[in-house]
Amino acid sequence: MSLYPIFKSIVFKLDPEVAHHLTMELMRKFSFLYPTHKIDPRLSFKRNGLVFPSPFGLAAGLDKNAEVVSFLTKLPFGFIEVGTVTPKSQGGNERPRLFRYPEIESLRNRMGFNNHGLVTMDRNIKRSLKHQRLLGVNVGKNKITSNEDAHLDYEKLLVHFDKMTEVDFLVINVSSPNTPGLRSLLQDTALSKLFETLETHQWLKPIYLKISPDMSESELKSVIEILKNSKIKGLIATNTTIMTEFGEGGMSGKILFEKARKVRNFLLQQLKGNADIHLIGVGGFSSFSEIKEYWINGGDVVDLYSSFIFQGPELLYELENDLLEDMINVKAPDFEHYLKAIRS
Ligand SMILES: Cc1cc2nc3c(=O)[nH]c(=O)nc-3n(C[C@H](O)[C@H](O)[C@H](O)COP(=O)(O)O)c2cc1C
Repeated sequence: MSLYPIFKSIVFKLDPEVAHHLTMELMRKFSFLYPTHKIDPRLSFKRNGLVFPSPFGLAAGLDKNAEVVSFLTKLPFGFIEVGTVTPKSQGGNERPRLFRYPEIESLRNRMGFNNHGLVTMDRNIKRSLKHQRLLGVNVGKNKITSNEDAHLDYEKLLVHFDKMTEVDFLVINVSSPNTPGLRSLLQDTALSKLFETLETHQWLKPIYLKISPDMSESELKSVIEILKNSKIKGLIATNTTIMTEFGEGGMSGKILFEKARKVRNFLLQQLKGNADIHLIGVGGFSSFSEIKEYWINGGDVVDLYSSFIFQGPELLYELENDLLEDMINVKAPDFEHYLKAIRS
């Protein structure tokens, strides 16, 4: 029996950010009591030089400073993304900055990259166990850094984490709605400065670009064009969406699903046959059937965040079981063959 509904009924009475910090503290202190889940080896999936132990991952923003990697990697997550980390520590926006909408299983946040910076992230990662899961580091620019100099922040972080043996992949976040001007980095000129910087290095790890669901089809097309001639090996779609009727910040969870789904489907269509750019799907996923539809359309690994908050770790055990059952139904010996079977 899952204890999460009881835990949630207590914690959801608290202010969302207080609840978050309390849960982080519990994950950190009592991780040793929690059993490490052994992911079924049939779920492993190779892409971009990486072996994802399972197609279900944790999106960035929950563990901004890599404080609870040792706990999160005990769960049935095949990979987790920590961050967004900026070069220097920064406090983020004023509170309240995290809001729950339980009736629609959605969240709104305007956190503003609150994090302890590169040095703390480095130290925390080195102290962590990652239980044979993949670890991605998601990087962003400091609020005080101008867009003209943003490429220097990204360069510093990417060069640093690329060298860390504990880190498996890197993510450039240019899509948070909560740092003024960040999304305008996606305009061709600012992005090309960043891309020029990337060209000057030999990267050991695959780099992904995380994008917003609020981009038009023509903007998405131009991002793909730039990516084709760059060192970036993947896209993560999507970040949170702006819906001013709810207030300032970015919306995630069920309310985001349709918008993010459209963007992902468009990208999958555009990337068809382009093995050089890997897409990680994220945004609003809360059930096996939604994820299966993404797989049928050509996607593979997915990230979760809000549904994990509303449904708890049980969701992950269920997703893994549902997938294994469906693999048996279609007589697929592993995830790779399963994808072929459901797409044919
Ligand atoms: C409270 C909160 C904080 C987040 N912080 C970050 C962040 O620091 N960096 C980032 O790339 N995405 C961040 N995200 C976005 C998530 O990684 C994810 O892209 C988004 O929530 C959509 O997925 P979901 O609908 O499954 O939650 C955050 C989301 C939430 C709810």
